[in-house]
Amino acid sequence: MKTLNLPPRLLMGPGPVNCYPRVLSAMSTQLVGQFDPAMTAVMDEVMALYRQVFLTNNPHTLLIDGTSRAGIEALLVSALEPGDKVLVPVFGRFGHLLTEICERAGARVYTINSPWGTVFEPEQIEKALIRIKPKVLAIVQGDTSTTMLQPLEHLGALCRQHDVLLYCDATASVGGNTLNTDEWQLDAVSVGLQKCLGGPSGSAPITVSERYVTQVRKRHHIEAGIRESSSSHALGSPIQSNYFDIPMLLDYWSGARLNHHTEAASMLFCARECAIALLEEGLGNVIRRHYDAGSAMLAGIQAMELTPYGDIKHKMNNAVGVVIPDKIDGELVRHELLHRFNIEIGTSFGPLKGKIWRIGTMGYNARQDAVLHTLQSLETVLRRHQCVPKAGGGVDAALAYYDQASIQ
Ligand SMILES: Cc1ncc(COP(=O)(O)O)c(C=O)c1O
Repeated sequence: MKTLNLPPRLLMGPGPVNCYPRVLSAMSTQLVGQFDPAMTAVMDEVMALYRQVFLTNNPHTLLIDGTSRAGIEALLVSALEPGDKVLVPVFGRFGHLLTEICERAGARVYTINSPWGTVFEPEQIEKALIRIKPKVLAIVQGDTSTTMLQPLEHLGALCRQHDVLLYCDATASVGGNTLNTDEWQLDAVSVGLQKCLGGPSGSAPITVSERYVTQVRKRHHIEAGIRESSSSHALGSPIQSNYFDIPMLLDYWSGARLNHHTEAASMLFCARECAIALLEEGLGNVIRRHYDAGSAMLAGIQAMELTPYGDIKHKMNNAVGVVIPDKIDGELVRHELLHRFNIEIGTSFGPLKGKIWRIGTMGYNARQDAVLHTLQSLETVLRRHQCVPKAGGGVDAALAYYDQASIQ
């Protein structure tokens, strides 16, 4: 076997993206024991850091070991007992993922649908809440399959009014778009590192409100092997998953440090560094950087006479869908970008497979040079495929965006 040597790709798809170099360095930190005070102090630091990322005072803010869907699954499987009702508004592939996870948890799942490329009005969701009376409303903030960003700010108040727990999957939007956990009264939020946070996938930061904790603690059980005579049990049925049992995970991350899994320490170091990188730059500045990169990319795409996909008023800052022109083989274009230019852009799923490309500008790659290289390379490849945008038009438009925003 040779030393691992991968091509130096520029990852401009919907995530994963290239990591911040400092995050890669943090991952190679030597380990300490999992209950070493040095390690538990880092766990506490991570909780404090992610409170600032999520804009919350929730003490219960921690990491789930696993990719983003581990965070989703932990929060939903812990909140839902078989037979509970859940409402999932679906506006892309990841709404279907939430549906599937809730179904597997044995919940009675009700969906409402908005055509892909659009988002919901709050009234549509409120009507469904009143009709269905679910225990949980589970919704995606930024659905990378369509690049749409669902407004969330009115949903928390509606959910409180109707006594519903509000779960949000902000995997792909956190750090690049506003996500205001406390102000918006979100009860449970999960995210991932591999998008705007600029890390690899493999850790899922979560935060949960007291309302959420009160509900799931009704099903709090302690594993027989670590139970003590003084340990108390809740009466509710045990949560179906041991690994994703939020009450047990809260015990593990609390001062009690009740043994659960062995913390994935290298991913914890990595998640810590992602949060520090973001907070050092400033959350508002990072969101603005994503907005600028996304706007410059959009300007470039439009100047190349390509059509952005969907309702761009509701586009995520960090991704744009591009309708693949009729006469073009979208996969061939992606192939040439990857193999000749070392640039990856995405395709999409389900009904959008082969219909749109998805171009991301996120995390470390929400940068002017990355935007310009991608537009220039895409133009060259399109020209080779008999689609002839005005020479230099995409790059000029992106530069003009950065100039008027006074960004060098
Ligand atoms: C909105 C959203 N939710 C969930 C996921 C699943 O994340 P993972 O692949 O890290 O489990 C993704 C990944 O692209 C996503 O964009």
